[in-house]
Order: sequence, then structure tokens, then C-alpha cells
Amino acid sequence: MPRALITGITGQDGSYLTELLLEKGYEIHGMVRRTSTLDRSRLVHLYRDPQIYGQRLFLHYADLDDPTTLRRVLGSVEPDELYHLAGQSHVGLSFEIPESTFEMTSMGTLRLLEMIQDMRKKPRFFHATSSEIFGQPAQMPQDESTPYAPVNPYGIAKASASQMVTMYRKTFGHYAVNGIMFNHESPRRGENFVTRKICHAAAAIKLGKQKDLLLGDTSAKRDWGYAKDYVRGMWLSLQHATAEDYIFATGKLHSVQDVVETAFATVNLDWRQHVRKDNRLLRPAEPQRLCGNPAKARRLLSWEPTTTFRQLIEEMTKAELALLADS
Ligand code: GDD
Repeated sequence: MPRALITGITGQDGSYLTELLLEKGYEIHGMVRRTSTLDRSRLVHLYRDPQIYGQRLFLHYADLDDPTTLRRVLGSVEPDELYHLAGQSHVGLSFEIPESTFEMTSMGTLRLLEMIQDMRKKPRFFHATSSEIFGQPAQMPQDESTPYAPVNPYGIAKASASQMVTMYRKTFGHYAVNGIMFNHESPRRGENFVTRKICHAAAAIKLGKQKDLLLGDTSAKRDWGYAKDYVRGMWLSLQHATAEDYIFATGKLHSVQDVVETAFATVNLDWRQHVRKDNRLLRPAEPQRLCGNPAKARRLLSWEPTTTFRQLIEEMTKAELALLADS
């Protein structure tokens, strides 16, 4: 049975990846941080299943800024594949907490690479990096050869972590992959990311549980795909004969305003009556033209995004309606 270790297992991508690897017959180990709130809601259906938890799924306390715990878990699990998804993932927040963002994202990745360097049997390593490394690129769409030009602390931390991954691959021969992930969403998206915030608000307003929706820059554009497709890309990239970097993206740009209009149309509401601008939600700098070309992933991995933007936002909005109706 192949064995996988996942950092960030409790997040959106970690939970979908766990489900995918369970289907594929893996034994899965996840690293979790001790926090005051035990938020494992995305894994709860697996955690409560006695056929799975403690049989094929195991959770270990460890922290990216606590090397002893990392080394201990890596040494005892001896994974075949290590999926590194953990980190402070909110771009806006990275302006408020740049040091801890950099520490966790950049230094945390370096620590893992150094520990792998000391292992006799090295796992294949997947690093979930971000389109934010491109910041304000000269070319659109971006591919694996586009120069990094990050414009915020998060993007800078991801860029340096990605360069470390490339260096360990080229210099020391590690099987180490950068998956350059463009925005990917789902009903499991964190509530402070814009798609979930909008879909939640549209559903809550429809049900009379919320009045207004406050947003920052609604003209901002992103390349938005469905998270389940992107975790399939993660797995595929570690099955390829050689370690490569890959863009995972849809190649299509949509604005925050498009998300608003699609979500409110799903619940038959006029967005003009509910959406307001709040300047406090504007970021000091915005990336531009982040749109990816996934041709390499298509060619080498036969990877394709399966869900359109409209399907994604409609599904997220309907999921919010169902969740709110239950609560
Ligand atoms: N979060 C948020 N909240 N964003 C808003 C809001 C708001 O109220 N109003 C407008 N926006 C704009 C942001 O300024 C940004 O331009 C865009 O909506 C998307 O914001 P997020 O959903 O927070 O995502 P992100 O693009 O900054 O970052 C996500 O995608 C990256 C991949 O490109 C995160 O998942 C990152 O971790 C990931 O690397």
C-alpha cells in the first residue's frame, strides 16, 4: 500500500486529496497543528469512520516551525509521497502578518527539503505553490517559464519556496515538484476567500439571514477552477517518470463582479440591492493578469479542468443554501 504524508490535511485541498488517495488505495498520514479550536470539519466524515481513521488515515501533531516534530513524523511515517500544502494562504492577510507568513511558507518548505535531504529513502515531494509568484507578469497567459514577479508578502514567500524546490531538484536530484496552482475553489473553501464569501452571502441574503455584502475590489480578475480537479493534478504530477513544474489553471479570466452576478442570479436576487463597496477591504497592491496556460500538464499528465466557472459558482451557492437551511 503506497504511503502518503500531507501537510495542511485539514484544508480544502488536503481534504479532497485525502479522499482521492483513499480511493486509490493509499495509507495516509496528515500533519495537524495544535490550535485552540479543533477545526477538522472538512475531514470529519473520514475521522468518524472506524474503517478509515486509525486504519488507513492517521493524524500526527506537528508544526512547520517546530523542526523536531517534523523530523519525528517524517522519520516514523517514511512516506513514498509527501504533499506539502500547509501555509498561511490568505494574500490580503499576508500584508498584516508578513513575518509569520514568510516563516511558515518559505522557511517551512526549506525545513522539509533539508529533512528529505537527510533521508535514506527520499519521498517524492509535491509543493503547492501559487500563481501569486507571477504578481504582475509581462506575459499572459503564464506558463512554467514565466519569470517570478510577486507583489505581496505571500507571493514573495511562495516564490522563494518554489525556487528552493527547484534548487533541491536540480542540485541534489530530489524528486521535487512545484505545482503552480491558480485559484481553485469549492464548497469547502475558507469563508474569507472571495468566492465563498460571495456565494455564502447570496444564499444567506436569499434566506433572510444577512442583509448586505461588503466587498473590496470587484474589478479584480482571476483564473478560477474547481479544487477537486487541482488535487487530481497534484497526484498525477507525482506519478510522472520525472519531476517537473506544472501550471494548474483553466486559462480563463473572470472578475469578482462575475462571481457576484453568477451567485446572485443562482438565487434569483438582484445584486445591486445588496452589494456595497468597503474600502477597508482593498489591498495595498493587487496582482494583474493572473491567467495560466496548463498546456504542459495537459501534455504530460493528461490533466484537464472539468468544471466551468458558471458550474463552480452555481454549485458553491447551492451548497451554501443547503448548509444554511440545515443550520
Ligand atoms: N478575500 C477577499 N475578500 N477578496 C476580495 C474581497 C473580499 O471581500 N473583495 C474583493 N476581493 C478580491 C481580492 O482583492 C482579490 O483580488 C480577489 O478578490 C481574490 O481574492 P481571494 O479570494 O482572497 O484569493 P487570492 O487570489 O488573493 O488568493 C487565492 O488564490 C491564490 C492562487 O492564485 C488564495 O487561495 C491563495 O492561497 C492562492 O495562492
